[in-house]
Amino acid sequence: YRTLRVALLGAGAVGSQVADLLLKHGDELADRAGAKLELAGIAVRNLDSKRDADLPRELFTTDAETLIVGSDIVIELMGGIEPARTQVLHAIASGADVVTANKALLATHGSEVFEAADQVGAEVYYEAAAAGAIPIIRPLRDSLAGDRVVRIMGIVNGTTNYILDRMDTEGADFADVLAQAQALGYAEADPTADVEGYDAAQKAAILASLAFHTTVPLDAVHREGITSVDAAMIESARHAGYVIKLLAVCERLTAEDGSESISVRVYPALVERTHPLASVHGANNAVFVQAEAAGDLMFYGAGAGGVQTASAVLGDVVSAARRHIAGGVGVGESTRANLPAVPIGHVITRY
Ligand code: HSE
Repeated sequence: YRTLRVALLGAGAVGSQVADLLLKHGDELADRAGAKLELAGIAVRNLDSKRDADLPRELFTTDAETLIVGSDIVIELMGGIEPARTQVLHAIASGADVVTANKALLATHGSEVFEAADQVGAEVYYEAAAAGAIPIIRPLRDSLAGDRVVRIMGIVNGTTNYILDRMDTEGADFADVLAQAQALGYAEADPTADVEGYDAAQKAAILASLAFHTTVPLDAVHREGITSVDAAMIESARHAGYVIKLLAVCERLTAEDGSESISVRVYPALVERTHPLASVHGANNAVFVQAEAAGDLMFYGAGAGGVQTASAVLGDVVSAARRHIAGGVGVGESTRANLPAVPIGHVITRY
């Protein structure tokens, strides 16, 4: 096999699992990818931080910039906007394909990143950027490309689903369960991103952009978190036959004159207990997609967690390697239409 050089940026909950699996399953992945995937190095901010996996020390470096040069595939798992944005653009300019799980980066600078990639014929893979291990990016981008998506209703944040579920099923206290979600590695470094709905809003912007073939800016996403949800609200919802879930709702709207727009919003919603989304427990995620021809589809699975999200990252790495070997051209995001995004309307009852 030809050898492809893989650079990993970041060794947190997801990054250390990606490195571990790449090293453990190298031969199998080589057979599937048609190329040997050589982990050239792991760039981190602090060499002495504690990692989730026991990785060879000689792989670590603090010099991401040098590591990127000459790499065929750069996996960006640092999170946050900077320095991730600079390193991703550097990787693209250096001729690498990029695999990233960085929802914050894509939701705020997606156009810049995709345009930079288009210009040089590089590809950006981001299956892990929304709903963790659940394959949802490819289905929306590829499998449903011949259909018209009408609505997405998603539970796309594991931490808040874990909290709401434990409050609902055990009457647990908000602060206690949040601490547990942090200990289990579901929550973001700053859990405000989870509980105030910022993380879900970023994922909603990414999913809506794909589903509706447009660019939904993050500031067009209506956002409410779960910090105002208390035990009494959960209890009265239950009595009325509902469960409270933090939903990301993305909808195509058609005005009377036939013009189309999009509404994307994240808020605690009352979901009927008989709806499939009501039975999504723990840190799981689910994305319910309604399309004109396909009808209702539901994608379900682990929405957070290091090793689970690493599965989606490695799938992207194999795709990138196959593209390299085939000498292929990327899908290209520049063909997007430009539907206006308007944060209006509430179809599902909001608590
Ligand atoms: N903090 C995120 C969540 C991690 O709880 O869903 C996955 O993006």
